[in-house]
Formats: sequence, structure tokens, C-alpha cells
Amino acid sequence: MPVILGIETSCDETGVGIVADGVLLGDALATSMDEHARFGGVVPEIAARAHLHAITPMVRHALDKAGIGFGDIDAVAATAGPGLATAVQVGLAAGKAYALTLGVPLYGVHHLAGHAAVDILDHGPLPERSIALIISGGHTSLLLLGDLARDPVIHLGDTADDAAGEAFDQVARLLGLPYPGGPAIDRVAREGDPTAIAFPRPMTGPHDPPYRFSFFGLKTAVARHVERHPGPLPIADIAVSFQEAVADTFTRKAVTACRDHGVDTLLLVGGVAANSCVRALAEHRCAAAGITLRVPAPRLCTDNGAMIAAIGDLLVRAGIAPSPPTLGADPNARLTHALFTRIRTEPPEREAPVDRRERRRPVWTGRPQPTTQTAPATPTLPNTSSDDFSGVDH
Ligand code: KG4
Ligand code: ZN
Repeated sequence: MPVILGIETSCDETGVGIVADGVLLGDALATSMDEHARFGGVVPEIAARAHLHAITPMVRHALDKAGIGFGDIDAVAATAGPGLATAVQVGLAAGKAYALTLGVPLYGVHHLAGHAAVDILDHGPLPERSIALIISGGHTSLLLLGDLARDPVIHLGDTADDAAGEAFDQVARLLGLPYPGGPAIDRVAREGDPTAIAFPRPMTGPHDPPYRFSFFGLKTAVARHVERHPGPLPIADIAVSFQEAVADTFTRKAVTACRDHGVDTLLLVGGVAANSCVRALAEHRCAAAGITLRVPAPRLCTDNGAMIAAIGDLLVRAGIAPSPPTLGADPNARLTHALFTRIRTEPPEREAPVDRRERRRPVWTGRPQPTTQTAPATPTLPNTSSDDFSGVDH
């Protein structure tokens, strides 16, 4: 049974997973989340530097947990995009180095295909066809999936503006909750009244595209509510009402997509799929519509190495040829195939939708952005002693 080492470094998590035949043998995760908290969003340079420090210990840790050694690895899978450019490059370079030194093939994989594949580790093989709702910090997409290793992925709809997780993070800021905002909103929402505030359900009108998402109007509605509220803010009520609006929109559109395409399995994945309200409403609506809902355990919803090993494992078992060793990272890659084969010689063309994490502003005020955007202020990086990175080319 081929054993796959998976490496994930697209954002602020350094994840390593080891998978064989759809079974997770061991994994390890380090995060630089705390280092970004004071900036209110991920600072790519800090994330990339943290990956450099964490990658080797995490690989060793995952191997120890799996009870195997380097000689047992048959293939390496690494995220080749999308994500923060420098962060992706660290993991891909590490993946290449491991593949080269171990003499095994390298699979450069799409991060979002990993989010979908990870559910195999919890719930077994995917059906022939499924609808996937991917809701993460950088993406929001409704996809029609066939064989994830072989078939092209069909985008039914994406977000017109923010990604779901981005909206959670920014609304949390407005409420004075810490970064990352999703888990913080989820926590405080438990104390709130979900019927307290009727926030809008974006893109759900009769003339709106049925599978497209938008969060800007909802974010702005929360900002206006906060501005106008006299006295102490009812944070729990706002948090739960916002969460309800998002969960309602997601689940309505996902169930409609399943019905329209005659698909009876919905895959709910990505960091925001860890949200308790989204999970509960999806369960309720899928049960009512006769749809089988598959949602990974919360720890596998947010970024991790197991998901990259899981998609690598699928590709290897399908007999797909590996990526070339000269594979380049593509920070803006749209999900069309799980495997990357392109060798980058020129800067990539901008493809929509781009990974929104690259453009996150440290501070969002709730006011509409001007159309001609000015560059965000560069945050001050913490002091780093120069000998920390001797020999590393930045
Ligand atoms: O998939 P992920 O780990 O990273 C990306 O690929 O972007 O998603 C991270 C996002 C963050 O925006 C975080 O706030 C959100 O997932 N998130 C949640 C929850 N846990 C993480 N959002 C809502 N509720 C949660 N429980
Ligand atoms: Zn992700």
C-alpha cells in the first residue's frame, strides 16, 4: 500500500499528514496564528518564516505518530497553490526536497482539492458525483465533483467579493473579537438570540444567480448596525444573527445545487465548515431534502496536512503521473484539477477568483472600499535576529 507524505503551507498552518489507502496514519500541525493576531489578518512574510522553522519538526512528528520512517514514504504531495505566494513556496520547496532525496514522485496539488478529499479519511470513498461547498478563509465555491483524481472540477458558482472566512474574520473585528474571527463568533454566538436581528441574505433574490455568493452587503449591514447601536453592543445577538444569515444562504444554495443537478451527496468543507451553526443547519436541510451530508470533523475542516496527503493518496491510487520536479507554485490557481502539472516560467496571469487571503487588509472599517485602491500600509514586522535565517534566500 503506497504511503503518502502530505505537506500544507498555503496560509498560517504548517500541516503534515501521512495517509495510505484512504487512512490517516499520523499528522502534525503548527500554526503561526498568534503571531498574526495583532495585525488582524495573516502577514505573508511572518507565515512563510514560521513555515521554514516548523516544516522539518512537523514532518518528524507526523512520521513518529504514524510509527514509520522516511524509508516507508512512497510519494510526496505538497500544496502548489492557491495561497500566500511565499508560504506556498516554502512547502512546495520542502516537498520537492523530500521527494528528491527519498527518490519518490512529487505531486503538486490544489489546496481546495485537499479540502474536499480530506472527508475520505473520516467517511470513506467519495461517491461518483457530489456537490461540494468549499467555505474557507480564501474561497467560497459551489462545485460539481466527479472523480476528484481524474475529472475536471466544475464551478457552479463562486463568491462575487469576499470569501466566507474573510467575512467572519472582519465581522469579528467589528465586534472587538480576536483573530481568527470564525471560531470567536461561533463561541460567543452560543449565548445570543438568533432571531434578534434580521440581517440580509445576500444573493438569494429571485433574479440573483442561484449558486453565486456575496458577503459585502451583509458585512456592511453588520457595520451599520454596530455604528447605530446606542449603548453597549449586544455582541452575542449580532454574532448569532450574522452566523444564521451566512448559514441560511450557504445551505439554501447548496441544497438547490444538489436538487438541480440530481446529486444526492453534499460535501461541506473548508475552515468555515467547522462552524456549529452551518453544520447544524446543513444537517437539518439535507435530512429534509433526502441529501447525504458529509462534513469532516472540525479539526480536518481547517487547514491541515492530512488533507494534502489525502488528495495525494487519491492521485497515486488512480495511477496518475506525478508533477514535474520543476513544478512552480501558483498562488492564484483556480480549481480545475487536483494535480498541478504546469511549469511556471512567467508570472501567472490573474485568474478569477484569486485567493483573497493575499489581499486581506489588516483593518476593515465597514465602509465601502474606493474603486481605486491604495496599497495597504505595510505592518511593522517584529524584530528578528539576522542569524535566524542565515543561508535562507528571502
Ligand atoms: O480552510 P481554512 O483553515 O484556511 C483557508 O484555506 O483559508 O479556513 C480558515 C477560515 C478562517 O477565516 C476562520 O475564521 C474560519 O475558517 N473558521 C471558522 C470557524 N473555524 C475556522 N469560521 C466560522 N466558524 C468556525 N468555527
Ligand atoms: Zn484552506
